[in-house]
This record gives sequence, structure tokens and C-alpha cells, in this order.
Amino acid sequence: MKAAILTAYGNEPEVAEIDRPFLPDDSVMVKVHAAAINPIDWIIMAGHLAEMLPYQLPWIVGYDASGVVVEVGADTVGFSIGDEVFARADGMQAGTMAEFSAIKASDLALKPGNISHAEAAGVPLAGLTAWQSLFDKGDLRAGQRVVIHAGSGGVGSLAIQFAKHAGAWVATTASARNKDLVEGLGADQFIDYSSERFEDVLEPCDLVFDMLGGDTLARSFDVVKPGGTIVSIKGDAPDGLAAARNVAFHSHFMQPSSEQLTEIAALIGEGTVRPLLDSTFALEDVAAAYDHARSGRATGKVAVSLTES
Ligand SMILES: NC(=O)c1ccc[n+]([C@@H]2O[C@H](COP(=O)([O-])OP(=O)(O)OC[C@H]3O[C@@H](n4cnc5c(N)ncnc54)[C@H](OP(=O)(O)O)[C@@H]3O)[C@@H](O)[C@H]2O)c1
Repeated sequence: MKAAILTAYGNEPEVAEIDRPFLPDDSVMVKVHAAAINPIDWIIMAGHLAEMLPYQLPWIVGYDASGVVVEVGADTVGFSIGDEVFARADGMQAGTMAEFSAIKASDLALKPGNISHAEAAGVPLAGLTAWQSLFDKGDLRAGQRVVIHAGSGGVGSLAIQFAKHAGAWVATTASARNKDLVEGLGADQFIDYSSERFEDVLEPCDLVFDMLGGDTLARSFDVVKPGGTIVSIKGDAPDGLAAARNVAFHSHFMQPSSEQLTEIAALIGEGTVRPLLDSTFALEDVAAAYDHARSGRATGKVAVSLTES
């Protein structure tokens, strides 16, 4: 089968012909129609997580997939051949940017029927990250005020919609070119991060969802009420700041979840949430796809099609 593989840290992914993966009993074989790019891919490709995630090279790149079940593992229930599914694949060697991917049933959900495979591929990692950060860690409830940084990105664009669906009031930071976009997703207050300091224009909030880390995370303590919460998916807070401000701080790394992905799929299926797809590249153009995703010019997800090559 064809796959995008990383042969050495520091390299770009390249297309190669490799064997189909082995199918474990707890997994299904998915004929992948589309995979999506996430920032963690290029962090891994650069070798920055080699100690934390010691992948064997060559590694099939990609965590997200949308496709069709073509084989079901012996101990797997709940999925049948022909089902359209999507997932954030777990497991050390689980790569999704390949014609076939063996994915644990516990990571899979049925794909919503009203979106394409390319749109669906961009949902699992970003969507589960947003869901877990807002609700599991942030305990966001109706009537609360939440600040979502980077609302125009893959994670932020879904987070805005989840928070609005939960009945929260939402402020978001993004660049001026994406004002209409984030307001269209439901944001109540837009802040252009390049011309305004969010702490100068925001009233105190119950929750901040941070995905920038560094200075943005440190300044976020100025907009949270005492007793409020900050969840960051990009780093740790400066020492002592959370205690000094009486703020709960959580650093979160997302986990795959079939149950939560099924809840997200239901919101998409009923039209409450719509995923934001920037563009779709053919597998042969995988290096260009990564260049585009990394450039900061993409608005929403960049997908790679495994059926157009
Ligand atoms: N811990 C985890 O489990 C986890 C999971 C997923 C992602 N992440 C991390 O979360 C981050 C976001 O991921 P993503 O997939 O959403 O990335 P993305 O789709 O590339 O989006 C990044 C967004 O950041 C915005 N941005 C850049 N500088 C900003 C600033 N100073 N203030 C506010 N927004 C700014 C850009 O908005 P404009 O285009 O409007 O300028 C862009 O939309 C990445 O660093 C990723 O590594 C962590």
C-alpha cells in the first residue's frame, strides 16, 4: 500500500510503497479515504518528542483518519465491514496517512453522514482536544464566560462551537482576517491579537482555554476570576501564579475516546457543529500539504486524500 512515511527525524514525509499493517484482534482495518495534519506531526517529525514518544522509524505519519471498515478484528464488536468511520488513532506505531490503517475499536466512531471524509478527518484530534479541555478539565457550564485563544485554528474553531452549544458566553482571539469567520462560528467577542491586548479589553472570565503557551498563557491569569480555571494544551503556567491568583490550572494532553467522538459526531450530524476544512492535498503532494499547514496561512484543517492518488 502507499503511505506517507518519516524515515529520519528532521526529514519531510515521503510517499513509499509498504506492507499493509497487521490487524490486531481489538482493531478494525480502515481503508483510509482522508487523513488530516495536526501540529504535533511536525513537532514529532523534527524529533522534539523522540524521548516522550519513541517511535520506530520509518513511521507512518498522521493521527487522524476517515474511511471505511474493510476487515474486523476477532475480538471487535460494534463495527461492521462497510461502516464509514473516523478516529484519532492511538498506539505507538499507529499512522493514518496510508491507504490502510489498523485502528483500535476503542478509538473509532461512526462518521457523520453529512460531511466528506476530508472534513471528517480533521475532527478527531482537534475535536477531542477541545471537548476534553472545555468540559473534562475546564468543567464549562451554561452561563459561564470562556476565553478561547486561537479561535480560527483547528482546535479553536471546534472549541467555540462546543462552548456555544453548552450555553457559554465566548470571547476569542484570532487575526483580523478571521474576524467574520469566528463570529460566524458563534464568538460573542472578537479580539485581534495583533492589535489589541486581550487583558485590556476583556471582563473577568470563568475559564481560559489556551493553546499558545508562553506570554499568552501568563497574561491569561489577568482575565480569570478568582476561583476560575485555565486549561492549556501548550505548556505549564509560571511557577506559583495559579496559587497566587486562586486559579485552578490544568495542562492537558488529549486522549482518544470513541464515546466522546460519538458525541461530537452527533453534534455534526444534526448540523450544530461544522468542521472547518482549509484544503485537501493528494498523497503525492504530502510535503506541500505540510508546508501549507505549517505556514500559518491555513484557516482550519489541511487534509490529505488517500483516494485521489
Ligand atoms: N496538548 C494537546 O493534546 C494538543 C492537541 C492539539 C493541539 N495542540 C496544540 O495546540 C496548538 C493549536 O493547534 P491547532 O491544531 O488548532 O493549530 P492550527 O490549526 O495551526 O491553528 C493555529 C491558530 O493559532 C492562531 N494564532 C497564532 N498566533 C496567535 C496568537 N498570538 N493569539 C491567538 N491566536 C493565534 C492562528 O490564528 P490566525 O490564523 O487567525 O492568525 C491559527 O488559527 C498547537 O500548538 C498544537 O501543537 C495540543
